[in-house]
Amino acid sequence: MAPSVFDSIADLREAVGAWRKDGLTVALVPTMGALHEGHMALVRAARAHGGRTVVSLFVNPSQFAPDEDFGLYPRNPADDLAKLAEAGVEAAFMPPTNAIYPPGFATTVRVEGVTDGLEGASRPHFFDGVATVVTKLLLQCLPDVALFGEKDYQQLVAVRRLVADLDIPCRIEAAPTVRDDDGLALSSRNAYLSAEERRAAPRLYEVLSWMAAALSEGGTSAEAVANGTAALEGAGFARIDYLAVCNAETLAPVERVTAPARVLAAVWLGETRLIDNVPVIPVG
Ligand code: PAJ
Repeated sequence: MAPSVFDSIADLREAVGAWRKDGLTVALVPTMGALHEGHMALVRAARAHGGRTVVSLFVNPSQFAPDEDFGLYPRNPADDLAKLAEAGVEAAFMPPTNAIYPPGFATTVRVEGVTDGLEGASRPHFFDGVATVVTKLLLQCLPDVALFGEKDYQQLVAVRRLVADLDIPCRIEAAPTVRDDDGLALSSRNAYLSAEERRAAPRLYEVLSWMAAALSEGGTSAEAVANGTAALEGAGFARIDYLAVCNAETLAPVERVTAPARVLAAVWLGETRLIDNVPVIPVG
């Protein structure tokens, strides 16, 4: 059955309120639409909770800088709704921009610390936009659980922080990154890649994976990052915004992996910026 489509906060709240009255739990999957298998894995994990599932589709202008791809960002609402119908999702929340940011809107949610480096250093506007919209979506829907992908690992850490700090009564659940057969992490932005760039793109995951293997066997971050940088440059990644080894919870840089860590990268292939990350499990 097709999901009910809500474009107003009041209507969404009324539906969620009615489900709660019936004793049903509510799971929210926030997205910017252009749904692919990575999003759908989150949707399936949400459905597995057994209650009602809400998927929000909102291309959030405040997380794009003026020179970024807000205008170009892929939008396929009809395809998205068909995918949600097939997955058995009960509700799609598709608010217009002025429902989220009405005239006079003047509040920003800022998470400090975990957002300082990595994406935060390369895209200074980004996490304020994400934190503000995610806070709003959680308060609009008031789900029992909200699901986020490890693909955007720093975003996941920032969301966990804001939910704890603002006492938002919602559990945050993470799902592993869904990849194409050749290892490339699925992303709406992969659509920007030329055929030649698409052939080079899987090298990113390959390099991150062998860095993670070297680190888990006791290698230093300095050595792994130097080798990784050389390999990425050799594979045609013209610009590297960052390539770093960080503690999995705090995102503080680590020199040797003695606790769960992540290798995280943002790189450019032509005009397309790709991000990815992999876990590092220390051995012994
Ligand atoms: P978007 O890029 O649409 O992603 C929505 C959710 O899908 C995020 O939690 C993201 O981590 C997850 N996701 C994307 N690609 C994935 C993949 N290959 N495997 C697993 N999960 C994947 O992230 C955003 O939107 C926005 O910043 C948002 C949180 C909606 C706030 O505007």
